[in-house]
Amino acid sequence: MILVTGGAGFIGSHTCIALAQAGIPHLILDNFANSRRSVLERLGRITGAPPLCIEGDVRDADVLARVFAQHPIAGVIHFAALKAVGESVREPLRYYDNNVAGTVTLLRAMQAAGVRTLVFSSSATVYGEPASVPIREDFPLSATNPYGWTKLMMEQVLADVDAAEPGQWRIARLRYFNPVGAHESGLIGEDPQGEPGNLMPYVAQVAAGRRAALSVYGNDYPTPDGTGVRDYIHVCDLAEGHVAALGYLREHAGLLTVNLGTGQPVSVLEMVRAFEQASGRAVPYQVVARRPGDVAQCWADPALAERLLGWRTRHGVERMCADVWRWQNGVARTLA
Ligand code: NAD
Ligand code: WQD
Repeated sequence: MILVTGGAGFIGSHTCIALAQAGIPHLILDNFANSRRSVLERLGRITGAPPLCIEGDVRDADVLARVFAQHPIAGVIHFAALKAVGESVREPLRYYDNNVAGTVTLLRAMQAAGVRTLVFSSSATVYGEPASVPIREDFPLSATNPYGWTKLMMEQVLADVDAAEPGQWRIARLRYFNPVGAHESGLIGEDPQGEPGNLMPYVAQVAAGRRAALSVYGNDYPTPDGTGVRDYIHVCDLAEGHVAALGYLREHAGLLTVNLGTGQPVSVLEMVRAFEQASGRAVPYQVVARRPGDVAQCWADPALAERLLGWRTRHGVERMCADVWRWQNGVARTLA
């Protein structure tokens, strides 16, 4: 059985579907700090039965000890974290406590229980301002905000843990690029509280008429149309990357670090146009100043993940937009 911390969240919930489809039993641990309990019932409608779930915090050593004592946990997928960049600048201690201290507490509990298989949610944010694109795993690492520092610190903690007990741990550090999309059923998807900070949910809410217009953060970047370029990856492809990583770790001890992206650069305006196509709605926008801390381009070289995991993405931007639109227009509207 796989313990999925943060399994009620955006990427975690889609990964629970991929686990169910792969026949891998799993148990969610989530404190619902950024998700809803109703996702469990909606997951059940997709997979046939709601996933097992314990409400609790990864910083709570007693809860973790109970979970490992009472369930035959063979490995952990660790999504639980806070992820809002701007909020992390305003409340750094909350982020270091939740993300870094939470991970340390989890690792201690795993060590005590003799569970040493971990798939960890890292981020392309660890590449900071990349010197060139596409980005390979051996590029220099840096951070520009506390959220990014928490990811870099946790990556370091994992490397040190692996080095201290060589050959004992099986750890995958998965560096996600820009996860978007929703399950094709329209029953689960990204469900941001308040004003979305990320492009895709903002565009979706503009198309749905919930917000008047998108602010495009700068059109004077050194990119083909001047707007920021990213590597958007469908959350269902990303979810399958976790199942592939678990398969890899069954065969290989040690520390694996891979990018999970498509390798396809997409600009803000290309995404706006793709969403207009998929939704049949206009997405009005105005160009405003650059957002501080944004990089011009960030997209992956996914070759290592393809080679080591035998995993590659299947869905393009059209499908990402179509799935987000189905979600936005259906269940997401009733949750708002
Ligand atoms: P999310 O907020 O939707 O999901 C995170 C889940 O973890 C939520 O259900 C939340 O309630 C839970 N959680 C948070 N702190 C917890 C704690 N202390 N104890 C128990 N549960 C806790 O976020 P997501 O987009 O699904 O991201 C999942 C992971 O992927 C995070 O680690 C995030 O940093 C990482 N990541 C996300 C993105 C992205 O753009 N979405 C990109 C790169 C990496
Ligand atoms: C994408 C592009 C914006 C909103 C962030 C985090 C990163 C990772 C994923 C977790 C950029 C532009 C956006 C808007 C816009 N999270 N944009 N108007 O910044 O690549 O990555 O989420 O690890 O750490 O920093 O994603 O979706 O915010 O922005 O013009 O209202 O859209 O400038 O070019 P980003 P994003």
